[in-house]
Amino acid sequence: MTDTKHPAAEDQAPASPQRRTLFKAIGAATAATAGATLLPGCSAEKKPAESDNLGFAEIPHRLDFNHHIPEGYSADRVMSWGDPLDAFADKFVPEKLDASEQSRRFGYNNDFIAFMPLDPDAAPGEGDRHSLSRNSERGLLCVNHEYTQPHLMFSGYTEDNSIRGTSDDHIAVEQQACGHTVVEVEKTTTGWQPVLGSPYNRRISLTTAMDIVGAAAGDKRLQTNEDPSGTRVFGTVGNCAGGKTPWGTVLIAEEGFGGAFQGDPDNVADEVEARNHHAFGIAEDNRNWGDYDRRFDITVEPNEPNRFGWMVEYDPYDPESTPRKLTGFGRFEHEGFTVVSKPGEPIVAYGGDDEAHQFVYRFVSRGIYRPGENAHNRTLLTEGTLYAGQFNEHGSGTWLPLLFGQGPLTGENGFRNQADVLIDCRRAARLMGATPMDRPEDVETNPANDCTYVMLTKNRKRLAGEENPANPRARNTAGHVLEIVPPGRSGNRNHASNTFRWNTFLLGGNPNAEDPAERGAYGQQQPGNISAHGWFANPDNVAFDGLGNMWVATDGCESFGFHDGLWAMATEGELRAAPKHFFGCPEGGEICGPEFTPDGKTLFVAVQHPADADDSTFDNPLHRWPDNDPTLPPRPTVLAIRKDEDGIVGS
Ligand code: FEO
Ligand code: CA
Ligand code: CA
Ligand code: CA
Repeated sequence: MTDTKHPAAEDQAPASPQRRTLFKAIGAATAATAGATLLPGCSAEKKPAESDNLGFAEIPHRLDFNHHIPEGYSADRVMSWGDPLDAFADKFVPEKLDASEQSRRFGYNNDFIAFMPLDPDAAPGEGDRHSLSRNSERGLLCVNHEYTQPHLMFSGYTEDNSIRGTSDDHIAVEQQACGHTVVEVEKTTTGWQPVLGSPYNRRISLTTAMDIVGAAAGDKRLQTNEDPSGTRVFGTVGNCAGGKTPWGTVLIAEEGFGGAFQGDPDNVADEVEARNHHAFGIAEDNRNWGDYDRRFDITVEPNEPNRFGWMVEYDPYDPESTPRKLTGFGRFEHEGFTVVSKPGEPIVAYGGDDEAHQFVYRFVSRGIYRPGENAHNRTLLTEGTLYAGQFNEHGSGTWLPLLFGQGPLTGENGFRNQADVLIDCRRAARLMGATPMDRPEDVETNPANDCTYVMLTKNRKRLAGEENPANPRARNTAGHVLEIVPPGRSGNRNHASNTFRWNTFLLGGNPNAEDPAERGAYGQQQPGNISAHGWFANPDNVAFDGLGNMWVATDGCESFGFHDGLWAMATEGELRAAPKHFFGCPEGGEICGPEFTPDGKTLFVAVQHPADADDSTFDNPLHRWPDNDPTLPPRPTVLAIRKDEDGIVGS
């Protein structure tokens, strides 16, 4: 099935994607769409039309067993699940995979990608030097591995019986297949290739030791039998999207962590924790990791889930570095956080909680960013204030601080201290009056206009009558994109301001849909602004190219009859929010992590869970992309897309 952010995800797409071809030719301008006011620009500043930024030949909506790119482009396979990181390792043979092998091989279900350039004259551990590099031909690919699917990884399972009853050996492999990979890559005359045996190559998994830092570190709710200090934890899980800092660290999110834990929360004595565990989908019939590794059984370690659901920061340039969980960013189902850095100002980071009716967040560091002073900069994300977004009528908005003792965040509402506010962040944000959103995914700032864009993937749980100005559609099946405009002019906006303006940037869905509640709205609704294949649904990840174009990756288009993929569009000018279709996944796959090299000539994408479909298993998969080899299952894979004539991707 599609739309799988984690094994316990609710709000799933229909079991059988509709295969009909939905699209009729776009005719005259479509009618206005419920609640949407689509404005001509982020700031209403006059901009020239950007009609020729995106010169590629659009690809059609399809649904088949291949990936698709525009004519004149190529896609190099860089890494697939099971590929080795070491120089002399054997080729991947799935039947021989054990935990030790998996711990030195590329993990499962690749998601977020950061490309971190390498300075050829600097060594491992010299992140200060590497972080200044704009090398676009050699760097570190830093890739999240969101979750495992035993029925597609191992012989002998169906999707149903792999949820409970996975063997100890297989769980041990799964725990090494989750997390994150660092792999050095280089652009050669024949395309992008991994540098096997590079000293930077590294796996981070569920057994990697990490520190817990920030205001909640050491709190009694983070203490366990294994770690009475509440400051050290093994591993990370549910690693969805993330971000990068200018001092050369990578941020990785912990999203669907609840699915890793088993046990009935009602059997946990502490009422606060029972409610907390219910809220993150922890249940008796979740996967059976707790039988193998007791800390994943909440009746044994009721506080272990409190040590997950955070943002993690680590230094990819130092293979010995210890990742750290940043409690100041709050605990929820983190899609990711992305950073805005301006010299002499606080670091501002934006993120979303990917669950129905959850919130958009902003972190503002206490200290200021000082370029080049990285010993100082490396402390910036450990101290600051977390805010939740309130999107009001008429395009006004407020950031609400989540601080113990302020407003309702007091003992009367069960908060003991700031650790409680951060651990139970959702409850704090709701009490403060944050706006419940339609599943916030990536929230990222476009350097070209200094505005911030919120991907809202969908929310079928929003009932009629529960609409709000920023989430205008009941039973929102197609998702939408909002634009946050901080005060100030482009390039000098104040992201630390507690007020902002916002616009609806686009509404996903078919612009010709008969039901106005499901009708997409793009750009300025001019005929010809959007082609038959330019519309999409379910925005998830986003990237911006060097020209300021937005590249949206989707998760859920198969329920509209075509593959998930990438759509590119201008954010300003006449063609603002008028998407063009650039990439399509093989059936069952979702595209994640779009990431450009600094020169814009390579676009890395992660195809997650190819062939994830009803009754598709390791033994009898829907297809075997990308190898199409009868001895190999379908494999999650990172591709590097290049223009054949070595130009800027998309131009
Ligand atoms: Fe893991 Fe929110 O997608
Ligand atoms: Ca997925
Ligand atoms: Ca997703
Ligand atoms: Ca995602």
